[in-house]
Amino acid sequence: MINLAESEAIPPKALDHNTIYCGNNEDVLRRYVSNDSVDLLYADPPFFSNQQYEALWKDGYELRAFEDRWKGGIQSYVAWMEPKLRECQRVLKPDGAMYLHCDWHAVHYLKIEMDKVFGESNFRNEISVKRIRKNVNEYKTVKRLNVAFDSILFYAKTDLHRITPPLREKHRPARWHAFDANGLRTGMDYDLFGRKPPAGGHWRWTKERSQQAIEEKRLRANPLTGSPEYLIPESTHELMTSFWDDIPAYSFKMGYPTEKSVELLKRIIGMSSKSSDLVLDPFCGCGTALVAAQTLGRSWVGIDISPTACRLMKDRLRKEFKIDTKVIGMPRTAEELKALQPFEFQNWVFEKLHGRANPKLLGDPGIDGFVELDVPVRVKQVDAVDQADVASFDKEVSRLRLDLGLDIRLVTVDAILGTS
Ligand SMILES: C[S@@+](CC[C@H](N)C(=O)[O-])C[C@H]1O[C@@H](n2cnc3c(N)ncnc32)[C@H](O)[C@@H]1O
Repeated sequence: MINLAESEAIPPKALDHNTIYCGNNEDVLRRYVSNDSVDLLYADPPFFSNQQYEALWKDGYELRAFEDRWKGGIQSYVAWMEPKLRECQRVLKPDGAMYLHCDWHAVHYLKIEMDKVFGESNFRNEISVKRIRKNVNEYKTVKRLNVAFDSILFYAKTDLHRITPPLREKHRPARWHAFDANGLRTGMDYDLFGRKPPAGGHWRWTKERSQQAIEEKRLRANPLTGSPEYLIPESTHELMTSFWDDIPAYSFKMGYPTEKSVELLKRIIGMSSKSSDLVLDPFCGCGTALVAAQTLGRSWVGIDISPTACRLMKDRLRKEFKIDTKVIGMPRTAEELKALQPFEFQNWVFEKLHGRANPKLLGDPGIDGFVELDVPVRVKQVDAVDQADVASFDKEVSRLRLDLGLDIRLVTVDAILGTS
């Protein structure tokens, strides 16, 4: 796992493109990613939802989960995010940009943090993207409305970033429009075609600008009423807004908790980067941004702290593009395995033994899964082997009328590592 101690001197290492890094993103960015080197960042961190996300995949044999619970409340979440956002800002090229996906739980706090890190003037948009709608079959009172949108905060590193948002075809012919507007404005009530603006109103343009528009035949007196009107030219397309209700934010393709849709990532990457630009996702989960980047011909780098997510991503990229992706930082030593969360350790053991974990039984004193045809396995992320424990496992194995079982502890890890 890529984990830097606070005091560790950081040997600069080259960043491999089209590679997954397993580790804490802050450490990976510090160790591998140099200043001003990334074109586009999409970050989809835990949202401060105070939930534990769990999902079963691989036909229910593996548990994928991440913790989004914060003991110290919103302040501890913001303190956790702040250095990560600083790293993200540091690695972006001057003409690069970052999209931070969040929702109502923390968007207002993150906006303030992003303003501090990127500078208020580099804020470009808050994009609202459609969440899943909920239907009910009975009417009952509820505490609040169903939340309709996630928020994506879009910041540029400097003024240089440009986007090419998709244009929606919409033809509007040229038309004349009334030239007065509501409200009083100093100097904007001059005589025009022998008229003053209606009471409480003003003319839209200065006298000089109006004069020029008259010469160019873009401002006239209406032939019937005599009221001033100006020409709105013909338009063929509507510019995309920051309100995205035509694509979903979420997908359930990979069964990964809070998985985002490829459509969403294709839109962001498509409009904010060019062919062969480098796209980096520091919280990449099951790799949606990597899939979108690969589809659009961009280079990419993904980072996730979960070895299970990294394995899933590698698998996904192999299935979808037939590429064998390098994964850097997968746990390789007993010490690193000890530091994993229990479900990650269990997933690792069963992957190495080519077995089938049964996460529904995680933490159960009995059996956690099987290897071979039906050899029961128990996994405990502890060093010690105590007699009572061994006896209880023995009993479980006998209850299943089997004579062999595998009891995996941290002390067994060296043996597994030795064979892998
Ligand atoms: C909301 S999910 C990302 C989902 C992803 N966008 C997708 O479409 O699959 C957040 C991810 O951040 C990862 N994560 C949490 N803390 C992290 C850290 N410090 N460094 C790297 N990844 C982290 C979690 O393991 C989880 O996979």
